[in-house]
Amino acid sequence: MKDQLVTLHRNALDELQGINDLESLDQFRVKYLGKKGELTLLLRGMGSLSPEERPVIGQMANEVRSNIEALLEQKKRELEKIALENRLKEETIDVTVSRKKFERGRLHPLNIVLNEIKDIFHGMGFDIVDGPEVELDYYNFEALNIPKNHPARDTQDTFYINENILLRTHTSPVQIRTMENRKPPIRILTPGRVYRSDDVDATHSPIFHQIEGLVVDKNITMGDLRGVLDIFAKKMFGEETKTQFRPHHFPFTEPSAEVDVSCAICKGKGCRVCSYTGWIEILGAGMVHPKVLRYGGIDPEIYSGFAFGMGLDRITNLKFGIDDIRLLFENDIRFLQQF
Ligand code: PHE
Repeated sequence: MKDQLVTLHRNALDELQGINDLESLDQFRVKYLGKKGELTLLLRGMGSLSPEERPVIGQMANEVRSNIEALLEQKKRELEKIALENRLKEETIDVTVSRKKFERGRLHPLNIVLNEIKDIFHGMGFDIVDGPEVELDYYNFEALNIPKNHPARDTQDTFYINENILLRTHTSPVQIRTMENRKPPIRILTPGRVYRSDDVDATHSPIFHQIEGLVVDKNITMGDLRGVLDIFAKKMFGEETKTQFRPHHFPFTEPSAEVDVSCAICKGKGCRVCSYTGWIEILGAGMVHPKVLRYGGIDPEIYSGFAFGMGLDRITNLKFGIDDIRLLFENDIRFLQQF
């Protein structure tokens, strides 16, 4: 048994030498010192020893055990230290390595121009209000004096959710929603996305943006409309800008007009951008139709008002010299970075 102990001790020390990781070290511990380990099994045989041998072997076995334990402990500490060092090495942050570059974002050209327009109208006492893009037929057409079967519905074909719900074709429904909720004096500007079932080309997109204006008060006249739009055009396109009103028809305004600004590129002389007319159309406008005021719950005998609706995409393109509306929606970073 003594020999067996000596052999076990030697084997254990040899084996311990070759261990390089904590997992193998634990297996080693179980193999020699565990409940079913080699040393434990060996000591089970002590019963068959003579009373004289027993304490000698017992003492020797304890020495072997504590020696193995001590060496094991030492090895464990070494391995743990190495493991820690490796981890520290792996997880070091090298502050000199250049990081991935994050580009700072910027405003979309539509928002740049929208902010400018909002500012101008803010300065004239307009509130900014919002309206739903998914709209009732009633607000988009009916209450704007465009009954079912009215030809104006053809030019504003849209996407229907069902018979009564559609994607709004203009921002004009917000006129009615506002009149329902506010008493005059009303002075609002309502920008937003609008939809039409149009095919995509350089000047058409099924999604685009309008900015609607509505003023309702006592004694509002076409002169007020002219004055407001004139100030807007000058602030937007430069002090020398002129406006021109051309008679037009909208079911929800009477009289109605289309409004042009003098071409900022050629200063009215005529160029490619203004199709050699010197003028560029930017919006539709007019005096709010009495029927529309009534739909909004406002008495046309007491109040009058004007409304206008302009194309934000159009104005943005003019402002920046962009020649294709699709660029505004494609999110090409090379395009967007230019603003
Ligand atoms: N809603 C009209 C359009 O989309 C524009 C407009 C608004 C005209 C307000 C007159 C008054 O064409």
